[in-house]
Amino acid sequence: MTFYAPAEDRYEKIPYRTVGRSGLKLPAISLGLWHNFGDDKPLATQREILRYAYDSGITHFDLANNYGPEPGAAEKNFGRIFKEDFKPFRDEMIISSKAGWVMNDSPYGFGGSRKYLMSSLDASLERMGLDYVDIFYHHRPDADTPLAETMYALRDIVASGKALYVGISSYGPELTREAVEFMEDEGCPLLIHQPSYSMVNRWVEEPGEDDTSLLEEAADGGLGVIAFSPLAQGMLTDKYLNGIPEDSRAAAGKSLQPDWLNEENVAMIRRLNDIASARGQSLAQMALSWVLRDQGDETVTSALIGASSVDQLQSNIEALDNLDFTDEELTAIDETAHDAGINIWGKATEARRHG
Ligand SMILES: NC(=O)c1ccc[n+]([C@@H]2O[C@H](COP(=O)([O-])OP(=O)(O)OC[C@H]3O[C@@H](n4cnc5c(N)ncnc54)[C@H](OP(=O)(O)O)[C@@H]3O)[C@@H](O)[C@H]2O)c1
Repeated sequence: MTFYAPAEDRYEKIPYRTVGRSGLKLPAISLGLWHNFGDDKPLATQREILRYAYDSGITHFDLANNYGPEPGAAEKNFGRIFKEDFKPFRDEMIISSKAGWVMNDSPYGFGGSRKYLMSSLDASLERMGLDYVDIFYHHRPDADTPLAETMYALRDIVASGKALYVGISSYGPELTREAVEFMEDEGCPLLIHQPSYSMVNRWVEEPGEDDTSLLEEAADGGLGVIAFSPLAQGMLTDKYLNGIPEDSRAAAGKSLQPDWLNEENVAMIRRLNDIASARGQSLAQMALSWVLRDQGDETVTSALIGASSVDQLQSNIEALDNLDFTDEELTAIDETAHDAGINIWGKATEARRHG
């Protein structure tokens, strides 16, 4: 391990966007540690990716209690690298964590209870060696906990100083509105929503029960939006154009189910790849530019990507060189991209629409 001194020109390399109606800015591309930062990946590669990200101006690193394998390992590994490389720059980083999905088999390792959220954040801080996280999320709606209990817990977490801001993930439009109103009344506004969103998974654009989409609801409520899995876990790259490579997420028996790479979806990916080539971009770059495109008030704040190598990250960041689309390009994408049936978080959203 060599001594780390970050690139001095890092803040000139990437645009920063204001998060909703807050004073906080996030880089247009943020790095998530869901995969590639567990105990199954060499620490040296993890360090290389994190250093490259930070040198490129990526100030935001997104974690959760259960990222691994094993659950907790990503926070532990990040904490070790943070201590060795990034500690002097803590004030220049936005680090997030979450609780809500399964952390352990106990009755207190899943859901939205005060008990789970409070204890989980303490454990996350301990693993990462941090005094506070910048953003703490409720990771998914939980039908078994009153919304008020979860929101009071988030409010008290901010009051305790253990998180500077709080957000929600995978909440549908109606529940988002209720959560926003609740937290406004408490004087502790939610900062941000973290939904899945990509060319082949557009649920955030669809109207909810009262005709308002999640993107509209977030904009109305003053929330920023950080879109996760904008590359559809790797499907919207050139990785699967000719089969499933051995070193891919789809081959690893993880969250990308190989049967999603069926003939129909692969044919669609090839057509999207052609549209990207005509724009002078790789498919991954076009997928990121598309998520970050200008949608007026509903423009996404940051695209939250994963990367298993520095090369992927480097090439993905180049998406930022061209975020403009012609009407013809957008129409071609709309006519080509269909829902790929990959929203594995949709059931959590559907499980609860109201508080
Ligand atoms: N809130 C939630 O419930 C939730 C859920 C999921 C994710 N997230 C957050 O979102 C982050 C990103 O999720 P994600 O990893 O699914 O995002 P993604 O950016 O859609 O997929 C990343 C994967 O795509 C492949 N890839 C990336 N760039 C590539 C390139 N240029 N060429 C070829 N392949 C490329 C890599 O897969 P290989 O490993 O196969 O190389 C990489 O691991 C997570 O780390 C997490 O922070 C949040």
